[in-house]
Parts: sequence; C-alpha cells; structure tokens
Amino acid sequence: MKIAPSIIAADFTRLRSEIKKVENAGADLIHLDIMDGVFVPNITFGPMIVEAINRMTELELDAHLMIVNPENYYERFIESGADWISFHIETVADVKKSIKFLKEKKCRAGIAINPETPLKKVLKFIEELDYLLIMSVHPGFYGQKFIPEVLKKIEQAREYIDKNNYKCLVQVDGGINGDNAGRVARSGADILVAGAGVFKTRDYKKAIRSLKCSRT
Ligand code: DX5
Ligand code: ZN
Repeated sequence: MKIAPSIIAADFTRLRSEIKKVENAGADLIHLDIMDGVFVPNITFGPMIVEAINRMTELELDAHLMIVNPENYYERFIESGADWISFHIETVADVKKSIKFLKEKKCRAGIAINPETPLKKVLKFIEELDYLLIMSVHPGFYGQKFIPEVLKKIEQAREYIDKNNYKCLVQVDGGINGDNAGRVARSGADILVAGAGVFKTRDYKKAIRSLKCSRT
C-alpha cells in the first residue's frame, strides 16, 4: 500500500519540516491539491509553489488538478516537478489526448472521478491509465467525512482492472484515516491519499504506519 499525504492539511508556515516529517515517516508520494475556485469552491496553489515543494523533497509529486481546462496547465506543472498528474474526467473534453500528452512527457497519467460520477464514464480509458483517482469526498476541502457508498465503486474498479490484467493503480482520496483505511484497502485501493488523517494527527509516523498496514 502506497501512502500519499496531502499537504493541503499541513502547516504552511513550516512546510519544509512538514514534508520532511512525512518523508521520514514513510510517505511514498506527496499529494498536491490544485484548486482553482471554479471547478471547486476553494483556491489553493499553482506551479510556483509546486516548484518550491519539488526542491524540498526527493519524493515524487502527485498533482491532483481540480481546475477547469487542465490541458492548458499540464506542461507548467510537469516543468515544476509534478511526476504524476490526475485531471478530472468532468473537466476534459478530449480525454485520450490528455492521457497521450502526459505519457509522452513521461508523467504518470491519472483520471480523477467525483463521488457522483459513475465508473462507467472512465472504463474505456483505464487500459491507458497509470492510475484512477476515486474521490471519496466532494472535492474542495480537506477534513471532510469519507463517503462509504464509494467503496462499491472501488471494488468495481479493482475487479475490472484485475479481470483485464491492466496495470492501472487505484488511488482513493478524501476522508481517509486509520479507522476506515482497512475497508478502503480491502475494497481494492493501491494508493491512499490522506490530508487530515496524517497532518492533523499528533504522530505522523504512527498515522502513516496504520494506513500502510490497512490491508492486513
Ligand atoms: C479534496 C482533496 C483531497 C483532500 C485530502 O478536495 O482532493 O486530497 O484534501 O484531505 P483529507 O484526507 O483530509 O480528506
Ligand atoms: Zn486530492
């Protein structure tokens, strides 16, 4: 199980030490929530901050683009150090073109889907994907409650991927903590994103360890 702490829930007055702490605690990726105030009702940060974060860590950066017209920004985020990029299926007209572009740039390509978006919307793209990001909250804010109905979608995605022998990883994002990580893992997740579930706990090491052990 890979763990991707989402720095949206970190203390930005000491971002470097927050990132070092999760790095030392066994994080596998750093999850970056990019919000534009249009696709979601919140604004976070853009490529300039991603570039600074890239200089703070050796870990790969996973940029989750919750923005309209993400196609206009792939290149900027890649130049800034994003190793993984997911765009929302709800925002992109030519999905194949987006996947092709990201892969040509040697960036891992992911599609993110909102809780109310049916899995069938993405099935035909899964073969091409490096990862599928299944949202388990409505995007916009950290610290929300996990939506349990999403577990079924995770199971269906897992089944479809395994049945076809695809290599697409399943990433689950939103409201994940030590209490529900076991259920998410058993439903078939490969990567757990956690914001408050890591950064709003007292012991990051303990939090990441319990998320990692969630499959057992
Ligand atoms: C929600 C973001 C998530 C979220 C993670 O819009 O995509 O990455 O902030 O934070 P928690 O784990 O606190 O829900
Ligand atoms: Zn996210």
